[in-house]
Amino acid sequence: MAKSYLIMVGAIVGIFWLQSCAEKAPEKVEKNVQYVSGKDEVTYLKIGNEITDTVQATLKANLMKAMQNGGPQNALRFCNAQAMELTDIYSQKYGTDVKRVSDKNRNANNAPSERELAVLEDFKRIRKAGEPISAKVAIDEDGKKHYYAPIFTGGQCLTCHGNPKNMQPELVSLIDSLYPNDKARDYAVDELRGIWSVKFKNS
Ligand code: HEC
Repeated sequence: MAKSYLIMVGAIVGIFWLQSCAEKAPEKVEKNVQYVSGKDEVTYLKIGNEITDTVQATLKANLMKAMQNGGPQNALRFCNAQAMELTDIYSQKYGTDVKRVSDKNRNANNAPSERELAVLEDFKRIRKAGEPISAKVAIDEDGKKHYYAPIFTGGQCLTCHGNPKNMQPELVSLIDSLYPNDKARDYAVDELRGIWSVKFKNS
């Protein structure tokens, strides 16, 4: 009787121990990123929000115009040729590196770095817990500040990032030919599409 009781207690403790190990994994991810708070956070959140709002608005306006002028295929050509160039213009203006990165990227140039991936994982974890995701400021090993903010999908994004079965076949062929390793598909509305990543080179 006493022995089977001990085995049972042992098993329960064992299960809890295993569980606590499993739950430790996300914490490890967070340790890769050193987030800052206080004055630096306020300062860089403000500039980061301003830059990404402007770039986002410009990208969106140009995308809409290209869509109206020649449909999604025309818009896609626009994205392909000029999306990176546009963010470069703002990079020069603000002395920053401005990027949109995603673990499920269309252009391999937009693959996340180790730190960006850790931030993405953090955002996903926060989302899973049902909490709102807000932009964050982190500091790297050289003391440079980085701004990170979530990018969510809206309905209009699915024209090019949705389930290919529901997309224009010509558009799908065009995407396939331009981006043979495309991972940025099969998204639904209101999913975490990626993150804005702004590095303040002079910070
Ligand atoms: C007309 C087609 C089209 C639409 C609509 C579209 N995208 Fe894209 N998106 C693209 C293309 C093409 C790329 C690759 C651009 C490049 O080569 O840098 C891209 C790249 C991205 C990237 C950079 C990461 C990656 O996958 O390479 C993000 C983030 C992104 N899109 C988010 C969105 C969001 C959010 C929306 C809706 C608000 C949206 N896109 C709507 C075509 C589109």
